[in-house]
Amino acid sequence: MSKLRKKFLELLLCVLLIIFTCVVGYGEAQGKSFLVDCGSNTSTKADGRIWVGDLSPNNSLTLSSTGFDATASSPIKSSAFSEIYKSARVFPTTLNYTFDGIPQGSYFLRLHFSPFVMENHNVNESSFSVSANGMRLMLDMNIPGEIAHKNLILQSSGHNSTASSLVKEFLLPLGPEKLVLSFSPEKESFGFVNAIEIVPVVDKIFKESVAKVGGSEVELGLGGRGMETMYRLNVGGPKLGPSHDLNLYRTWETDSSYMVIENAGEEVKNSSNITYALANESPVAPLVVYETARTMTNTEVLEKRFNISWRFEVDPNFDYLVRLHFCELLVDKQNQRIFKIYINNKTAAGNFDIYAHAGGKNKAIHQDYFDPVSSKNDVLWIQLGPDTSAGASGTDALLSGLEIFKLSKNGNLAHLMRFDSSGHSVDDSKMRMIWICIGAGVAAIILVAFLVTFVVCLCKIRRSKSDDSKGNNPPGWRPLFLHVNNSTANAKATGGSLRLNTLAASTMGRKFTLAEIRAAAKNFDDGLAIGVGGFGKVYRGELEDGTLIAIKRATPHSQQGLAEFETEIVMLSRLRHRHLVSLIGFCDEHNEMILVYEYMANGTLRSHLFGSNLPPLSWKQRLEACIGSARGLHYLHTGSERGIIHRDVKTTNILLDENFVAKMSDFGLSKAGPSMDHTHVSTAVKGSFGYLDPEYFRRQQLTEKSDVYSFGVVLFEVVCARAVINPTLPKDQINLAEWALSWQKQRSLESIIDPNLRGNYSPESLEKYGEIAEKCLADEGKNRPMMGEVLWHLEYVLQLHEAWLRKQNGENSFSSSQAVEEAPESSLQACSNQDSSSETKKSQTGSTTLHNVV
Ligand SMILES: *[C@@H]1O[C@H](CO)[C@@H](O)[C@H](O)[C@H]1NC(C)=O
Ligand SMILES: *[C@@H]1O[C@H](CO)[C@@H](O)[C@H](O)[C@H]1NC(C)=O
Ligand SMILES: *[C@@H]1O[C@H](CO)[C@@H](O)[C@H](O)[C@H]1NC(C)=O
Ligand SMILES: *[C@@H]1O[C@H](CO)[C@@H](O)[C@H](O)[C@H]1NC(C)=O
Ligand SMILES: *[C@@H]1O[C@H](CO)[C@@H](O)[C@H](O)[C@H]1NC(C)=O
Ligand SMILES: *[C@@H]1O[C@H](CO)[C@@H](O)[C@H](O)[C@H]1NC(C)=O
Ligand SMILES: *[C@@H]1O[C@H](CO)[C@@H](O)[C@H](O)[C@H]1NC(C)=O
Ligand SMILES: *[C@@H]1O[C@H](CO)[C@@H](O)[C@H](O)[C@H]1NC(C)=O
Ligand SMILES: *[C@@H]1O[C@H](CO)[C@@H](O)[C@H](O)[C@H]1NC(C)=O
Repeated sequence: MSKLRKKFLELLLCVLLIIFTCVVGYGEAQGKSFLVDCGSNTSTKADGRIWVGDLSPNNSLTLSSTGFDATASSPIKSSAFSEIYKSARVFPTTLNYTFDGIPQGSYFLRLHFSPFVMENHNVNESSFSVSANGMRLMLDMNIPGEIAHKNLILQSSGHNSTASSLVKEFLLPLGPEKLVLSFSPEKESFGFVNAIEIVPVVDKIFKESVAKVGGSEVELGLGGRGMETMYRLNVGGPKLGPSHDLNLYRTWETDSSYMVIENAGEEVKNSSNITYALANESPVAPLVVYETARTMTNTEVLEKRFNISWRFEVDPNFDYLVRLHFCELLVDKQNQRIFKIYINNKTAAGNFDIYAHAGGKNKAIHQDYFDPVSSKNDVLWIQLGPDTSAGASGTDALLSGLEIFKLSKNGNLAHLMRFDSSGHSVDDSKMRMIWICIGAGVAAIILVAFLVTFVVCLCKIRRSKSDDSKGNNPPGWRPLFLHVNNSTANAKATGGSLRLNTLAASTMGRKFTLAEIRAAAKNFDDGLAIGVGGFGKVYRGELEDGTLIAIKRATPHSQQGLAEFETEIVMLSRLRHRHLVSLIGFCDEHNEMILVYEYMANGTLRSHLFGSNLPPLSWKQRLEACIGSARGLHYLHTGSERGIIHRDVKTTNILLDENFVAKMSDFGLSKAGPSMDHTHVSTAVKGSFGYLDPEYFRRQQLTEKSDVYSFGVVLFEVVCARAVINPTLPKDQINLAEWALSWQKQRSLESIIDPNLRGNYSPESLEKYGEIAEKCLADEGKNRPMMGEVLWHLEYVLQLHEAWLRKQNGENSFSSSQAVEEAPESSLQACSNQDSSSETKKSQTGSTTLHNVV
């Protein structure tokens, strides 16, 4: 009953407020800020401003009850506000702050919360609501949980955020009556507040009517409505504190942690001569916000057919005002940068040209959009992407700043969210689901474990039988170095740092002393350096017994290097294959990270194609190199249960031994493939430009088809013998993949092939070869062939060429035509399951064995 009455009162107040403000209108505030340092009886300077203690006789507020004041005994994290965060007002029952003499108008109200250890109160258990003149601002809020949740979100995007305080900002219209801020703790709980900031918004910074996304203009009714600032970001620039915004003291955060793919947006900066496009814009945002921005990353490869996306957690079932800030910093003409703006996947604006809107370069503007978020949705996406209706030259986007405001609904701005003190949301029904899932999971694990044990036992019995009969594996095909030893897997899984020693006992091969390595590499003589790898130099060396080795030495103390070093060890310790460069041993003395490989006498495939004076490879040699590397990749993809994605397939990672046998190397970026229940692995975009799969870049989802794409680029590189990216060429030729593909699509690949090949290849084989490469470069991964299919078709191409060679040499034409007839049907649609290649067959048996061992 009393609840009903309270609701009714609230409603009444709200209605009164609306009526009142409608009559009075949306007044403009003037004058001074009210800054309160809660729990203190003196005035304190913080952030360049004077904050008056709420117990000081000198303030214009009254407290309905004092609760008690708490002071931090231990030092608190330093920030501009540390002085005022040292004290707090703690209230076990409702506490009203009543402010007298605030002129009517609109105000930013900021509530500062900085939890600290208090006597007799565990701040983790605090929970309270806040309202301002009847408008509910916060509901049963647990501040430490909220802070931890924010940190969790930021950390999940790779930013080690350890914020320890929270500022909630609201924009409120105030009438002539006193402002009553009412803090009420949940039953049996308590609340606290460190500081209250009330800043007048003298100028009008919001218009009354705003474009609705996908609709017409709507009236915001800000005179009777409050707003909460959800996000305020300085896109592409640093965090800006209140001191950059001396009228309104706003804080602008960085945007990168909200980006869906950080690499998609490139930071740009130019601080010269920026002005507001309109005279009265200055309070909307300080100019420094417009000095930095993000544009679409120029990938050379992609024609910018992707979006820059930001993703924000928001409260469901509210209306949002999205404000975007723009200032063209780079281009000085119209029609150079035209893009689309999407808000929650709906087009908010198309054909958007900042230069045209602002009337010039270096002119700051903003755009507001209104978008309701349904009760089923708790994220808001903001995306900028190419407008395909614009000419290709203009497809680019730019954003300088971004603000998201939540509009009050029926006098309410609060959304009930509960987080435990470690930041995970607490929801009873969800918790129940989680327990059910855990239960089911445990049961499933037990079942699986049982089955695996059973199968392993069975296999052991069978293998011991077959081992007796066979003796050993055929040479050149030894996939089983695979004791994915549990310590390795666990160290990886827990993200812990991997100790080489744990590997030493297993499959790592020989452990070298640093002295041995130094002797072999003549103390890392630069004359013996044969390359610079992803994380350090590679040297040629010779062991005492005369064996030639390649020594990969990581630059000391490179964190990046360490991760890739570990990946390489983990990958290589699991893999042995004739077409993968094999690891001989390692050395980890004196903080060195050194890997020792078999020596590949003929270096990289690239060095035999162009850029050096080595004699050109024949078409046959090139095909054999492609086949060898395809075989290595096919093994990577299929040789273990989850498959392995190389992620950095390129001609410098294909090495040739003394017999020109090609082997894949450099597994520093490799990833285990998707597990059973996923079709892809989500990961930050890595790899080499020019070879990078556009779909991977767009969706950040890694599949083995990304390797297939890169391999397609390798195929074109091999036949054209030029760099995959050559910026000195005319625009349409810069990117080999695009250029060669356009020729291939016209079926005239022969016009652009390496002149060294002219006349020395079978035209039929080149035709087939082009078709394979084209298939590999299909825009969507699902349309690309599997590596096994590529391999099989390449073998067929080689057969075609060999038949042609025999014909050229006037050999018996009977055997050559037979060879061709034996080859499979030439359709690329043919299925890889019908593999006739004996090696591929073996690889399948190999993978079966792998399954059994894992
Ligand atoms: C302020 O509080 C401190 C400690 O609580 C007390 O010692 C001091 O006398 C107070 N000052 C005033 C002006 O009330
Ligand atoms: C009250 O505030 C004024 C100015 O804000 C200051 O000059 C004065 O000393 C203060 N008085 C007390 C008792 O703190
Ligand atoms: C605090 O303010 C609210 C609303 O303005 C009012 O209902 C409540 O009675 C006040 N509480 C105290 C303790 O003054
Ligand atoms: C993030 O972590 C690194 C090392 O782990 C540290 O050097 C850096 O200061 C941290 N950054 C922040 C903002 O805490
Ligand atoms: C910044 O803008 C000014 C004026 O438009 C221009 O002259 C200058 O080259 C720009 N600087 C950079 C680094 O782009
Ligand atoms: C900046 O503006 C001033 C005055 O408008 C002008 O004289 C100056 O040349 C401008 N500088 C640049 C780099 O555009
Ligand atoms: C960009 O995002 C919008 C909205 O989610 C989507 O419709 C569009 O297809 C995306 N464009 C690209 C190139 O991914
Ligand atoms: C909007 O698009 C993104 C991907 O672009 C997708 O993850 C998200 O679920 C979409 N949201 C809605 C509401 O459709
Ligand atoms: C509050 O929760 C955090 C995170 O769970 C914990 O680290 C901290 O010790 C807790 N504080 C108290 C006083 O219990």
